[in-house]
Amino acid sequence: METAVSAFPMREQIVILDFGSQYTQVIARRIREAKVFSRILPYRTPAAEIAALNPMGIILSGGPQSVYSRKAPLPDKKIFDLGVPMLGICFGLQLMAKYLGGKVERGTKREYGKGNLTVKDSHCELFGKLPKNLQVWNSHGDKLTKLPTGFKTVAITENSPHAAIENRQRRFFGLQFHPEVVHTPKGKKVISNFVHKICGCGRKWTMRSYIDQAVEDIREQVGGEHVILGLSGGVDSSVAAALIHRAIGNQLTCIFVNNGVLRANEAEAVQKLFRDNFKCKFLYEDTAKLFLRKLKGVTDPETKRKIIGNTFIDVFQKATRKVGKAKFLAQGTLYPDVIESVPIDGNPASLIKSHHNVGGLPKNMKFKLVEPLRQLFKDEVRLLGLELGLAKEVVWRQPFPGPGLAVRLLGEVTEERLAILRNADRIVMSAIRDAGWYYKVWQSFAVLLPVKSVGVMGDERTYEFTIAIRVVDSQDGMTADWVKLPAKLLETISNRIINEVNGVNRVCYDITSKPPGTIEWE
Ligand code: XMP
Repeated sequence: METAVSAFPMREQIVILDFGSQYTQVIARRIREAKVFSRILPYRTPAAEIAALNPMGIILSGGPQSVYSRKAPLPDKKIFDLGVPMLGICFGLQLMAKYLGGKVERGTKREYGKGNLTVKDSHCELFGKLPKNLQVWNSHGDKLTKLPTGFKTVAITENSPHAAIENRQRRFFGLQFHPEVVHTPKGKKVISNFVHKICGCGRKWTMRSYIDQAVEDIREQVGGEHVILGLSGGVDSSVAAALIHRAIGNQLTCIFVNNGVLRANEAEAVQKLFRDNFKCKFLYEDTAKLFLRKLKGVTDPETKRKIIGNTFIDVFQKATRKVGKAKFLAQGTLYPDVIESVPIDGNPASLIKSHHNVGGLPKNMKFKLVEPLRQLFKDEVRLLGLELGLAKEVVWRQPFPGPGLAVRLLGEVTEERLAILRNADRIVMSAIRDAGWYYKVWQSFAVLLPVKSVGVMGDERTYEFTIAIRVVDSQDGMTADWVKLPAKLLETISNRIINEVNGVNRVCYDITSKPPGTIEWE
């Protein structure tokens, strides 16, 4: 399987090297908010590969390790000789020290949380047009005890005598705090100063320029070959389809696979949505029975995901023959999918779930991948969809996971249990829509638990399943809060489910945020 890492060579871009920080994606976002394109690359990316992208600047992200730990992720040291401006954040600053003649030691006190920064050198461009005192957010144990060669201190905090450092001549900067997080209220300006004033990037990155560039890149990657795309009807695959269709027209065929774990009426709705919104080739594969046969007897969540992912690809490969020879498979993979599926060295816990369209793919897959949304967050994909002219009900559709109801049905997937879940889910969706909540929340759905409990209906004792309702708010699916729905609405949902869904006698509301919970139950 080949991935299309180099899908976006843009003229003006900032490269972010990822050393495993939980905030790397937030850095990328801040840069895009500054209307500059950025690309996150693994920390090990060879300097020559970075140079080939011709970045205007490089940011070294934070990371959980100590630079002197044996497990520390270390970059190609030639990155310091590329002659482009560089900003090291936290672990990134410590790397600069390690490689450029400074010294880092374990601090006696961990500096975590809010700090007060005092800018000592008002000529430092990083703090241009900012007050002398700033609130910043710290998260580090090690600290810089000897400046790297040619650097000087430009700001301090109570606990860090070198909270910000610079080598003006080489245009290298290091920050001990995190400018990207919201707890550093003026951090956006620090990042903007770096990308605009220091790196010299213009404010050019807009959705329109993104589309132009993506169209060019897709054409270059695909050439005259055919591409097939698994259309799920969700935002991601629909936007990917619209973008790829704009790039290569009839070389694209969209295939909608009925994987047997769709919601009530979904197969019909997606086909209609497709015909109304798209003008490209379309194939419907009704393979529900095949998927359910393969899922028979399986209860482990990861195994379910893998089976669905693998069967999906098999169906695809067969369907391709109907289309003619397709060399590429397009996917609407987003940045959070990538991040949650890639274990970062030294931090295996960062593999949270193998997402259907990333980790679940078989190694011997015969397609090359086209993933034009791989660097974006969901809200950015929605803006892109609107810019491409897609209808509101496509662009603002709530996310639905690739493995569908299988990850909302705990335990074995059977026709009988699916029918219960579909029925409950249909009620949740219609009640949420009727009450005007559908577009206000990130996701709302039902989950079928493999738990039976005792109840009483009429004069009879019942012993039936439990439905959990999950309604969450989120920016990008990475973190989420449970939504405080009005009690009246919860009551309507609960009453309707108990009255209308055979086999269910209890309804619970999930009041877990992410973290520590995930949005889906499996
Ligand atoms: P979790 O459960 O990981 O979900 O908190 C985060 C967001 O991702 C969606 N999700 C998936 N989407 N394939 C997908 O296409 C998957 O395997 C998958 N698992 C979770 C989930 O619905 C939520 O929006």
